[in-house]
Amino acid sequence: MCGIIGYIGKQKALPILLDGIKSLEYRGYDSAGVAVLDNKNGESRIYCVKSPGRISVLEEKISNQENDIGGFLGIAHTRWATHGVPNEANAHPHFDCGQKFFLVHNGIIENYKELKNSLIKNGHKFSSETDTEVITHILEDERKKNPKTPLEELTLKALKNISGTYGLAVISVEEPKKLVVVRNFSPLLVGIGDGEYIVASDASAVLKHTRQIVFLHDGEIAILTPEKHKIFNLRSESVTRKPEKIEWTEEIAKKGDFPHFTLKEIFEQPEAIENSLRGRLLPEEGLVKLGGLELVQDKLREAERIIIAACGSAYLAGRVGEYMFEEYAGIPTEVDFASELRYRKPIFRKNDVLLVVSQSGETADTLAALHEAKQKNILSIGIVNVVGSSIARETDAGVYQHIGPEIGVASTKAFTSDLSILALLSVFLGRQREMSLTMGRRIVEELEKIPHLVGQILKNKDQIFKVAKKYKSYNNFLYLGRKYNMPIAFEGALKLKEISYIHAEGYGAGEMKHGPIAMINKDFPSVVIAPSDSVYEKIISNIEEIKARRGPIIAIATEGNKEIKQIVEEVIYIPKTLEMLTPILSVIPLQLFAYYIGVLRGFDVDCPRNLAKSVTVE
Ligand code: F6R
Repeated sequence: MCGIIGYIGKQKALPILLDGIKSLEYRGYDSAGVAVLDNKNGESRIYCVKSPGRISVLEEKISNQENDIGGFLGIAHTRWATHGVPNEANAHPHFDCGQKFFLVHNGIIENYKELKNSLIKNGHKFSSETDTEVITHILEDERKKNPKTPLEELTLKALKNISGTYGLAVISVEEPKKLVVVRNFSPLLVGIGDGEYIVASDASAVLKHTRQIVFLHDGEIAILTPEKHKIFNLRSESVTRKPEKIEWTEEIAKKGDFPHFTLKEIFEQPEAIENSLRGRLLPEEGLVKLGGLELVQDKLREAERIIIAACGSAYLAGRVGEYMFEEYAGIPTEVDFASELRYRKPIFRKNDVLLVVSQSGETADTLAALHEAKQKNILSIGIVNVVGSSIARETDAGVYQHIGPEIGVASTKAFTSDLSILALLSVFLGRQREMSLTMGRRIVEELEKIPHLVGQILKNKDQIFKVAKKYKSYNNFLYLGRKYNMPIAFEGALKLKEISYIHAEGYGAGEMKHGPIAMINKDFPSVVIAPSDSVYEKIISNIEEIKARRGPIIAIATEGNKEIKQIVEEVIYIPKTLEMLTPILSVIPLQLFAYYIGVLRGFDVDCPRNLAKSVTVE
């Protein structure tokens, strides 16, 4: 949530900063701002431009400025509002009364109200309603008390009284060749270029300049000058960390010929799933190889229960994982919203394993659930996409998704990759237990075919577009599924809500009679996931019940099922696969359906209103 970037080096900072926040725009897009330190006629000055709206609005505002903003040091921010409406004053960067300190912040300052009240009493004038601004005024006070202290030490003094989370980048007119960044439970990394540094909330913003990246840890501060960088921890000890080489290329983070990232990522799924499976399937042995779990495989053999914690779509993937683990690995499994697990009093037992699922690896609630498990000393493993992210670092072991950056705010390729990895895990855990060689082989062989089958469904995009066109004006949808496809009903409804702002409810089809059926009439369509699986007959009965109430039905069914065509308005076919793998296929038409309706209704599907990727505040 919120994207921050900072630059120090030999190039003009402004274009790099603007370009950088554009690639972070998916993290927040209600306002944006930039501050650049320039030295004109021997005098340092910070030029700051902010604006509500998208980054393009900020760019236009900058191009209308009379001043040429030409310095080599600067910071920028794209905002997802927490405190204060999206307007110019609340946009970052924020600054103190004397306009000496400018900073951008991602996170939440929890005690800002009391700090603000006392600063106002001491004569400070606030220009925004944000929590962030207090830091600038505290810096100003600290400067009065410590006239000679360098910016990094001043920043640490200022942060002493602050509680909350922050990724912070600070510049000051007093030290025109220094950029100070601090991380506390909010992602921040330093890209190391040739005579330049770019700091950012995530790697996509720095890839154009460098692939050498140092990920800061919580409680660390980095001091950057054009020549060198230094990192210290909370105890003021110097930290030496080798840069990691990020394999993502700049191209992966671009739309290419697609009109939206969301569509690109939907169509990337065959390749993304293949990347998640690559080198991990051993069809002959009916086994899977998960290098990231090797060190903990003995402990996993002892596992008596798995608790999956995640948020949003990742949580729904976990719900499918629960069915997979219980049926194929024979391990009791529970799934919890990370936001609930962290606040209830979960009972962990010695041989429990916490599995956290997070594309970004930075979701605040998921991270907190992980901390809870670590405190209780139980083994934690993760399914994570972003290399070097907090969850990737803090879990005991894990499996990377290898799907490249997911930029569309609504998750698509990360979801199907999660499902594929959960299937891998069921074989991994199952073969440590009772799963037979034959069953192991069967799942592995079917998994190998999945990328191709997903590709086949995508070829049917025109039919899905036609269905979307026909149904685009309805205001309510019910999504139904059973067993493995019940979580997919929730995911389909979530996609429609997010992208097209249509009210949609996901439900277990068996639960329909216990309430939701009251809503059904001719104006209330249902999307029913009805593959030919072990609960097919049951879901056909549910379809009949909807029909009897004149509800229009769009069914997702298995190729070759002609019977269903007679009873529903629309059928979208998916190929046959193992029941446990059908969710990877059945969700594809639902993603496309939501995407097309969003586009047909004229919405910005990549950046839906009120949302942001990577929810780093709780
Ligand atoms: C929905 C969506 C969100 C994320 C959720 C978790 O389309 O994208 O529900 O799935 O915020 O994000 P990660 O996986 O990064 O923890």
